[in-house]
Amino acid sequence: MPPVFDPYSSSAEEGLGMNGWLRRVGIVAAHIISLALTIFITLLSRPGTSLFSWHPVCMSVGFSLCMTEGVLLFSSEGSPFCFQSRKGRVRLHWVLQALVVIAGGTGLAFIVASKNVSERPHLTSWHGLLGMATLVATGCQALCGVCLLFPKWVNSVARLRLYHATCGLVTYLLASATLALAMCSDWFQGTIKGVLWYVCVLLPLLPALVVMNQVTNSYLPTYHRRMSRSESGNV
Ligand code: HEM
Repeated sequence: MPPVFDPYSSSAEEGLGMNGWLRRVGIVAAHIISLALTIFITLLSRPGTSLFSWHPVCMSVGFSLCMTEGVLLFSSEGSPFCFQSRKGRVRLHWVLQALVVIAGGTGLAFIVASKNVSERPHLTSWHGLLGMATLVATGCQALCGVCLLFPKWVNSVARLRLYHATCGLVTYLLASATLALAMCSDWFQGTIKGVLWYVCVLLPLLPALVVMNQVTNSYLPTYHRRMSRSESGNV
């Protein structure tokens, strides 16, 4: 039987490059920014005032809040879920990622309906195009996650976990770029101007850096070490 790799164990935090305190501050700031951005965008779009107003709400709840929390919960530092067992974290992870898919699908339905009603063409901006790529990547990631939930369906769980982590990072970066591009839309720039606008555009960058640091510096090297140990029969 192939060895079971556990990327979510506390030892998956080995080998982090940043100083401990800096990493902790970064993680806490990422939690605060993702929540603050979601609340800010929700207040700004005044949900219920139009079909469009639900698009920013759904997308920020899904991609800024749930997706960030769904990844950061695997960090044993600065996370409100640090008391949870590995099993508990995995369960919370898939619940949050399922919410991302639901919020993403709903947000897409609202923007498509809104554009159809106002008879405007679809996918005419970089935000729209990158947003579509983000949604496709999120769908593929969700399918990959479902296969991990039912490991009997796959040949190499370890390899699938590696793909899931790597593609998950790409999906997260796509979502962050889409969020930043949303701030460049006429709708957003019509309301938010000056220094605050620059702050809003740059805000998704910090959670993206923290997530990138978490996945690349902790999970992937640990995985490779375990993989080579297992291949040489030292597990
Ligand atoms: C990662 C999250 C997001 C994704 C995946 C996403 C996805 C999309 C997609 C696919 C479209 C094009 C729909 C079409 O052409 O039929 C679109 C349009 C739009 N979105 Fe988003 N969106 C996200 C977040 C946001 C946020 C937070 C805002 C507001 C702050 C926003 C504002 C807009 C606007 C104004 C449009 C219409 C103009 C345009 O096509 O660029 N989006 N979005």
